[in-house]
Amino acid sequence: MPGPLYEATMGRLFAVVYDRLQARAESAGVREMRKGLLSQASGRTLEVGAGTGLNLDHYGPAVGELVLAEPSPHMARRLRAKVSAAGRAAEVVEAPAERLPFPDESFDTVVVTLVLCTVPDQAAALAEIARVLRPDGRLLFLEHVRSEDPRIARWQDRVERPWRFLAAGCHPNRDTLAAIEASPLRVELAARERAPGVPRLVSEGVAGAARRPS
Ligand SMILES: C[S@@+](CC[C@H](N)C(=O)[O-])C[C@H]1O[C@@H](n2cnc3c(N)ncnc32)[C@H](O)[C@@H]1O
Repeated sequence: MPGPLYEATMGRLFAVVYDRLQARAESAGVREMRKGLLSQASGRTLEVGAGTGLNLDHYGPAVGELVLAEPSPHMARRLRAKVSAAGRAAEVVEAPAERLPFPDESFDTVVVTLVLCTVPDQAAALAEIARVLRPDGRLLFLEHVRSEDPRIARWQDRVERPWRFLAAGCHPNRDTLAAIEASPLRVELAARERAPGVPRLVSEGVAGAARRPS
């Protein structure tokens, strides 16, 4: 996470405006992308970097127990409010992906949406996710990634620092699929998608599933 001053100012502001910033993209199609991804979640499920809880409505009856990890106290406050308003049984835990306070092999499904762009250490986050997944358990992911168009990728590199400052640590230019492929998980499904209603700089995404080998 960035320093405490950044978290108290920009981190807090980002949490306040996040749902409004996302609203256009959600109604243009991102909500449907979330829904499609999360229909595959089952068993004891952990969502990492759950933010304000935009995925909450999409967990179906196949999800037994739901745990929501979120390191930002400003996001976590909104998340708790959304959980109780939804009347959904879910535990909110303030923790970063790189240090998940859960035993080994304790979840059937782990979910990340628009999180691996932001975690300070992708390799450590993915190693932790693999650790807490049961053998054969799955990571479901939906992430915006480095553009396949070299012209746009160059712009993503140019604006990376100011973007990171304004968007609470988000890197617009990460090759997240390559990071998942390099992790202990085995990618089973990965579809590149363009998110509608999203600025071109962060509109290319990848959605899919990766399994912890048994
Ligand atoms: C762009 S928001 C996405 C929120 C939510 N997952 C969604 O799909 O709307 C990025 C989220 O990642 C969280 N985050 C930042 N650093 C993190 C870390 N080290 N581990 C886990 N989550 C982190 C932020 O607090 C924020 O909630």
